[in-house]
Amino acid sequence: MDKLIVHGGVTLRGSINISGSKNASLPILAASLLTPEPCIIRHVPDVSDTNYMIQILSALGADVERSSGTVRITCEDISDQAPYELVRRMRASICVMGPLLARKGRAVVSLPGGCVIGDRPVDLHLRGLEALGAHVEFAGGNITLTAKDGLHGAEINLCGTHGPTGNVMMAATLAEGLTIIESAAAEPEVLDLANFLNAMGANIQGAGTRRIVIEGVPELHGIEHTVIPDRIEAGTFMVAAAIAGEGVTLRRVCRDHLKAITDAIEQTGHHVQFNATGDVCTVQRNGHPRGIDLVTAPYPGFPTDMQAQMTALLATTPDVSIIKDTIFPQRFMHCAELKRMGADIKVDHGTAVVRGIPQLSAAPVMASDLRASAALVLAALTAKGSTEIIRLYHIDRGYEHIDEKLLMLGANVERLKER
Ligand code: EPU
Repeated sequence: MDKLIVHGGVTLRGSINISGSKNASLPILAASLLTPEPCIIRHVPDVSDTNYMIQILSALGADVERSSGTVRITCEDISDQAPYELVRRMRASICVMGPLLARKGRAVVSLPGGCVIGDRPVDLHLRGLEALGAHVEFAGGNITLTAKDGLHGAEINLCGTHGPTGNVMMAATLAEGLTIIESAAAEPEVLDLANFLNAMGANIQGAGTRRIVIEGVPELHGIEHTVIPDRIEAGTFMVAAAIAGEGVTLRRVCRDHLKAITDAIEQTGHHVQFNATGDVCTVQRNGHPRGIDLVTAPYPGFPTDMQAQMTALLATTPDVSIIKDTIFPQRFMHCAELKRMGADIKVDHGTAVVRGIPQLSAAPVMASDLRASAALVLAALTAKGSTEIIRLYHIDRGYEHIDEKLLMLGANVERLKER
């Protein structure tokens, strides 16, 4: 287990490239189960979550080759049972359920366990697949879905949820007839998945909006695809620049996906500028920032995956800021650790009240989940002294080479092996 030492007080400057999106890559990798032909997927970030997904696909019988961000997957002869040992490590492995069911008529996947960011049920994944004709059974910690007579189109309301929208959309590509997803998730990662599926030969319309219509097709074929930039990694580095930067430039971003994050950072008084094509952005820190009120919401609202990082920024921004997480109201584990660094934060019923102080001070802190760990790294960048962040594996789940990227921007960070 690694830990990160962040020596605070160094100004960040320069430019880095943003990696491909983790949350788009995961379902896209799973979607390659829908065809026996090879799929080539580019800009897959080298993070442990994508590594787990690749291990799950290999365990299912896929032939996978990976080299510098490009993954080639051929799912010619696959099993219908995802191994518990791998599935238990990552909640997102639930997204193999839809493609396995559609391809094999049966899927056995372990029921995901508890999650530190809150209770994360899978009822909508199951309700959606049941509506397409699957029979659901629970036994021995596993969910078994069977569709002996194949899947058939249906009208389903998925309450704006991201994972269920992807799972049902993948299953519906090979179902007979028309599927309509009402209250679909409109996240860019869902649109990227739909673009991948359509290129494979699926017929999906409306992805990226609240209503998705899928006309089932008999089969899908292999393709090449480049994953969209990771808007949460981009947002995290935008906040790093606002906290500790002096002109930090991020390349390979997508302006359209960053609107809510850009608005929030600009409201605090910092400056964000994009080039004409919207794929390069520069953040300029303002010496007189101000507090804001923030509420997380499904896309295009402010993402829950950026809530912890903004809390780190607001911890040293004058005024009182109020942050409410409506998606995961229990996702405030970072606040207890930020308080160990001197932050003045009170959390009550999914809302954090942050009173900005001039400077945090270093302390040994513990990463509890992916975005909470990112918040601790950001806070440590301007804290007085050297902050030691343990359980770094959380951050390695979703940030590609974060310590190397911070070093490129001039930060003083060291990764050490924990004993
Ligand atoms: N929900 C249900 N029933 C379900 C599924 C979800 O009640 O069957 C609830 C959840 O408990 C939660 C809300 O609906 O309160 C949102 O869940 P959703 O399905 O949208 O989230 P997810 O697919 O499990 C993805 C991202 C998360 C991100 C959320 C929200 C991936 C792999 N994960 O999770 O990313 O926070 O959408 O945008 O795409 C992260 O990257 O740090 C992360 C946690």
